[in-house]
Amino acid sequence: MKQANKDRFHSNTMASSYDKICQLLVPGYDFMQNTLIDILKYEKLEKIILLDLGAGSGILIEKVLKEFPDSTCYYLDYSDEFTNLAKMKLKEYENRVTYIKSDFCGDWESQIKEKPNVITSMSAIHHLSNKNKKNLYKKCYNILEENGWFFNIDEMKTINEDAYLRSLYHRIYHAENQKNIVSEDLKGAYKGYMEKIGDWKKRNVDNINLPKQEGDDIHESFLIQLNWLNDAGFKETDLYCKLFLLCMIGGKKI
Ligand SMILES: C[S@@+](CC[C@H](N)C(=O)[O-])C[C@H]1O[C@@H](n2cnc3c(N)ncnc32)[C@H](O)[C@@H]1O
Repeated sequence: MKQANKDRFHSNTMASSYDKICQLLVPGYDFMQNTLIDILKYEKLEKIILLDLGAGSGILIEKVLKEFPDSTCYYLDYSDEFTNLAKMKLKEYENRVTYIKSDFCGDWESQIKEKPNVITSMSAIHHLSNKNKKNLYKKCYNILEENGWFFNIDEMKTINEDAYLRSLYHRIYHAENQKNIVSEDLKGAYKGYMEKIGDWKKRNVDNINLPKQEGDDIHESFLIQLNWLNDAGFKETDLYCKLFLLCMIGGKKI
């Protein structure tokens, strides 16, 4: 039995409400992205060529383009709806962004003309089966420039099952708690997103023991995923940041 509808990302309503409200409702959204940007500054990479996997409405790409004026970006996503929204939002940077429409499991590498030195992803890879997550990490290692970095900010299990359950409840608590501070113009997006949180709770909390398939939220522990990064060849692998369910794991290609 399938828990989630894989088509849910192919919707204008979903794309637009996610774009408007994710920074408020996903715990640690900006904190994680800003930490990633701090790491890139600290690494003093010459000229950033970023590939963002499952780039959505382009929020992370926009931050990178602003922070690093020499940077260029590959935007990759399989949803026309999210891509169209990103193209509108990133209009002023159009000569610095290349759009790739592909599933993570497709042959997107053939569309990469210049090797990226930073590969990122946020809230996307956990929809893949574990086998496909591992394959994607290998593909990323292969396409990455020497001395380049890979970071995945994503929903992940933690060391203990009870703490994992707590992190699921925290996600719902955090979103519900924003109700009182949501501005008038975001009330519609809030309502739409909370319906999705209701579905998310059904899948991940109420039906926690149902088997998972590609497209569901297939949470895997950050420790196991760090081992997959090591197996793929990454060095300096670490859990670079964590807030309850959201973890940022990463590593360098040396
Ligand atoms: C929850 S959104 C996150 C968007 C963005 N990374 C952010 O954090 O704001 C997940 C994105 O990943 C994309 N996505 C999910 N599974 C994918 C797959 N198998 N191949 C390509 N894109 C995928 C969806 O279309 C959607 O744009």
